[in-house]
Amino acid sequence: MRVLVTGGAGFIGSQVAKLLEVEGDKVVVVDDFSHGNYKNLSGLRGEVICHDIRDNSILKKLPRFDAVIHEAAVTDTTLTDNSLMVSVNFNGFNNVLEYCLSKKIRLVYASSAGVYGSGSSVMKESQEPTPHNTYAYSKLLCDLKAAKFMKQSAKPIVGLRYFNVYGPGEYHKGASASMIYQLYQQMLQNKQPRIFKYGEQKRDFIYVKDVARLTVAALKAKRSAIINVGTGQARSFNDIVTILNRVLEKDLDAAYFDNPYASVYQNFTQADTALLKSTLKSQAHYSLEEGIQDYVKKHLAGRTF
Ligand SMILES: NC(=O)c1ccc[n+]([C@@H]2O[C@H](COP(=O)([O-])OP(=O)(O)OC[C@H]3O[C@@H](n4cnc5c(N)ncnc54)[C@H](O)[C@@H]3O)[C@@H](O)[C@H]2O)c1
Repeated sequence: MRVLVTGGAGFIGSQVAKLLEVEGDKVVVVDDFSHGNYKNLSGLRGEVICHDIRDNSILKKLPRFDAVIHEAAVTDTTLTDNSLMVSVNFNGFNNVLEYCLSKKIRLVYASSAGVYGSGSSVMKESQEPTPHNTYAYSKLLCDLKAAKFMKQSAKPIVGLRYFNVYGPGEYHKGASASMIYQLYQQMLQNKQPRIFKYGEQKRDFIYVKDVARLTVAALKAKRSAIINVGTGQARSFNDIVTILNRVLEKDLDAAYFDNPYASVYQNFTQADTALLKSTLKSQAHYSLEEGIQDYVKKHLAGRTF
């Protein structure tokens, strides 16, 4: 297959693009490099095009694709430029959606568990979304628009509500990189890991290798759907510190501090994975312990970034 990967220089997009090539697909990456990093593309053989997805002229010029995986987005959830957030995340998505509908090709796109906002129970795709910030709202707009066109689309449209993704290729994200990456950096330098009081917030952390595999699997979905992509397990920030201490052979206590985003913070996320399992016939394979072990030992150890 010939697959267009938008946001392919980013954390998840680059893993997806490289996995597609391993599986024998031809990949073209479109990314404006506003946030991604060329280092993520090391080893990729396919064409890389630097272009802003808000401008759809590029889609008209390129030879036909069999499918699009749309990962491009402004991903810093704390960004206050609402106009930029919505124009990239929603208008960019609209361009890709219109392209896929007109060409009658498959679309897999990145949504987010952010659409659920705060809750204290397992999150189901059917529940009422309550986004807490513009980022989450922009993703909800994409889901609503996609849902509208699912019936009339010739090929499946699959939205993936990623939960908290961690793993190799996220270093360029700075403060938006995962908790696992942030705490690893601190603990490596023998600093106390800094987490919000009192570390019992729980998130569904999923390893990027699982996310890339499930995203590629979504290209074979038999029907349109919006699907949670999580492990189905909610794990605490304190758990991450415990696991990193074990993997790094350290014994550092957490330093707790007040959460500056308390009013809009997701203190609990956990994916209901029933739809993931039934639609993609697959699920996450890595537990948090296995994912962190793999990430630290195979990818972070010895790196200076
Ligand atoms: N990482 C997570 O935990 C997570 C969770 C939920 C959803 N998501 C979604 O997954 C997708 C990938 O996220 P990521 O973590 O890899 O983020 P990332 O920031 O590493 O990747 C996003 C990529 O999109 C590119 N981009 C931004 N604006 C663009 C534009 N106008 N035109 C073309 N390219 C543009 C960036 O340069 C970057 O390479 C995003 O849609 C994000 O919202 C990520």
